[in-house]
Amino acid sequence: MTELTDKPSGSDVRGSNTPRRIVVGITGASGAGYAVRVIELLAASGVETHIACSSLGRRLLAEEMGITQLDPDALSGGRGDRLVIHAGNDVGAACASGSFRHDGMVVVPASSNTLAKIAHGISDNLVQRAAQVTLKERRPLVIAHRESPIGMAEIEAMRMVTLAGAIVAPLSPGFYLEPTSIQDLVDFMAGRLLDLLGVPHGLKIRWDEHLEARRTPSA
Ligand SMILES: Cc1cc2nc3c(=O)[nH]c(=O)nc-3n(C[C@H](O)[C@H](O)[C@H](O)COP(=O)(O)O)c2cc1C
Repeated sequence: MTELTDKPSGSDVRGSNTPRRIVVGITGASGAGYAVRVIELLAASGVETHIACSSLGRRLLAEEMGITQLDPDALSGGRGDRLVIHAGNDVGAACASGSFRHDGMVVVPASSNTLAKIAHGISDNLVQRAAQVTLKERRPLVIAHRESPIGMAEIEAMRMVTLAGAIVAPLSPGFYLEPTSIQDLVDFMAGRLLDLLGVPHGLKIRWDEHLEARRTPSA
């Protein structure tokens, strides 16, 4: 694990308001590729990223991405120096404490199980504990849920976390930008999640820019 010193969140020494420390929770829902892309983009933006992964999150990374070791470079496109990977069952890790200052947390992908646990303030693992702490400290929490269809339990849990201050962002990419690959769909959602965390990125996911590009096609 990379050791990094505690630093205040908020605007950085360069005077910008770019978030510089984000927590990423990975759980056992389909869509591990979204997590990897979000982590890559955070690393590319120079954000110090803290990872908490549930046991089933690890299984999904293996099943869907062939990632069997939580290796910082593999998860961040070779920029692992800004990545801190915590043991998923360590509810005593740094990001389990409200005193750990960060700029927000995203749970991606978020299973119905973890969604429900967060809604009820249960913290059996580090993802759940870090999310609970993020809510109690009134920091941004984005829950990128994946399941379909959903029943009353998920709907009620979404209502509860929304009332508690979280943003539920279902992993439901739009098709209006005329995607031609799975990567386009993943990038659409990853870009929206970074927008919600206030992290800049250069992905072409904006409707207005798409319209403009359509009006002025390159020769
Ligand atoms: C291959 C696979 C795919 C799964 N996909 C989903 C899913 O998309 N959404 C979901 O809520 N649960 C899904 N599950 C079930 C969860 O992994 C299970 O509820 C687990 O308890 C979640 O644990 P966690 O929230 O601690 O990660 C899947 C399980 C497996 C093995």
